[in-house]
Amino acid sequence: MDIAFLLNGESVSLTDVTPTTTLLDWLREERGLTGTKEGCNEGDCGACSVMITDDSGSRALNGCILFLPQINGKHVTTVEGISTPDGSLHPVQHSMINHHGSQCGFCTPGFVVSMAAAHLNGATDHDVQLAGNLCRCTGYAPIIRAAKEAEDRPVPDHLLFLAKNIPAIQKSQTEPLNSKAFQPRNSDALADWYVANPNATLIAGATDVGLWVTKQFRDLGAVAFLNQCGDLRGVTETSDKIRIGAMTSLSDLETAIEPHHPSFAAMIRRYASVQVRNAATIGGNIANGSPIGDGPPALIALNATLHLRYGDTRRSLPLEDFFLDYGKQDRQPGEFVEAISFPKQADDLRCYKLSKRFDQDISAVCGCLNITRDGDIITAARLAYGGMAGTPKRASAAETAMIGQSFSEITIRGAMAAMVDDFQPLSDMRASASYRMQAAQNMLLRYLHEANGTTTDLMEVTA
Ligand SMILES: Cc1cc2nc3c(=O)[nH]c(=O)nc-3n(C[C@H](O)[C@H](O)[C@H](O)COP(=O)(O)OP(=O)(O)OC[C@H]3O[C@@H](n4cnc5c(N)ncnc54)[C@H](O)[C@@H]3O)c2cc1C
Ligand code: FES
Ligand code: FES
Repeated sequence: MDIAFLLNGESVSLTDVTPTTTLLDWLREERGLTGTKEGCNEGDCGACSVMITDDSGSRALNGCILFLPQINGKHVTTVEGISTPDGSLHPVQHSMINHHGSQCGFCTPGFVVSMAAAHLNGATDHDVQLAGNLCRCTGYAPIIRAAKEAEDRPVPDHLLFLAKNIPAIQKSQTEPLNSKAFQPRNSDALADWYVANPNATLIAGATDVGLWVTKQFRDLGAVAFLNQCGDLRGVTETSDKIRIGAMTSLSDLETAIEPHHPSFAAMIRRYASVQVRNAATIGGNIANGSPIGDGPPALIALNATLHLRYGDTRRSLPLEDFFLDYGKQDRQPGEFVEAISFPKQADDLRCYKLSKRFDQDISAVCGCLNITRDGDIITAARLAYGGMAGTPKRASAAETAMIGQSFSEITIRGAMAAMVDDFQPLSDMRASASYRMQAAQNMLLRYLHEANGTTTDLMEVTA
């Protein structure tokens, strides 16, 4: 596979690359750019953060779970390219020095890259922007102060120039294709190739697949990179429907869903980190079939339809029917997720993610509750949970117990009692079975209190 990209302003062409070489390994081992660090090698610590620029803008990504073909046609800025070509420091580098934002320094390049990407995008929600960067020794307060200080300083010209000149880079990219690795430009090409190679591994954002390589050392065999299929990306709206392309990143989904279902958007903000959300796609989050993925419960609660494609044949099914059993989905070899759609509705959806840490943690229980009322009477309910069974699953007994009843504590407590017929959760390192059940039940109560105007979103415990 041949690829071309810009690295800190210089053109790079690589021939015959092993498609599952990570950008982090290549930078460190082939280019000697050792400013980009390896910490966890699984997307959790941000030590490997790089800035990737393409026609949709500049964003921070984790280089450790980014395969080289994913940067084909793009611009990569490493920590070595953050300062200006004459060696002057970037404003965030200055402010890190001013505020003593570094002690051992191992995490510092990753922080600086994340801060520079946020600075370029004018993002000032620093806690959110830096949640994917871990520091063991400095403590976060000086780093956040540094990010704040740099807010109003101008973006260095060389980074602005990059952001404006990406189309020229894209034209110069080479055609990447061989028998084991394919990078289609659109979904028609993907559909044809996948029918001919039905056992190949599809790679979307690689936030799951990347770990199969870096942690499990798996040989993926034939692979297709979906990141250049622009027609699979984006959110479209009609008067009564919202359709999300499979390759839409969680970051883009967060922005698009915010005006319709802010609670869903708030949950997405707790999904991994900025770096992971910038790479991870909603198609991958569904196709991986995880019982603890955060996207499916919200989408099932919204009555979503999944759109699948095999060659020229398309079919659609309710999303909840896609998850057959633990590790088993209704998807044939050669068939891929094209999109997901759901009806527009009043915002009755509330999403509750429960995990041990606020940021960067997988859900122990994720409850997404969509309760429709006519006056005081509950006319419909879709209560979808992750972490309660081998698949994302609705609490049908609890739903039945509330439909037709008044929206009251008595009804909600009846539904909570009925939920014991819906789930037999597991105990594991994240939570015990009884904790999971009680938490899932209590989410119904939380919904009631929230709907009645009580604040339930406690960000800190006060005496
Ligand atoms: C540090 C870290 C934190 C995480 N935190 C969370 C979290 O809080 N919540 C959460 O839900 N998940 C989390 N994840 C898991 C992961 O980010 C998600 O599952 C993600 O949405 C996967 O999307 P992707 O595009 O990266 O998929 P990939 O890794 O590219 O693919 C995942 C699977 O889906 C298949 N696939 C991808 N696209 C398609 C398609 N269009 N059609 C058919 N098959 C396809 C692939 O072949 C593969 O089997 C985390 C991961 C990491 C590394
Ligand atoms: S090395 Fe930890 S996120 Fe990449
Ligand atoms: S300065 Fe040591 S890990 Fe952050």
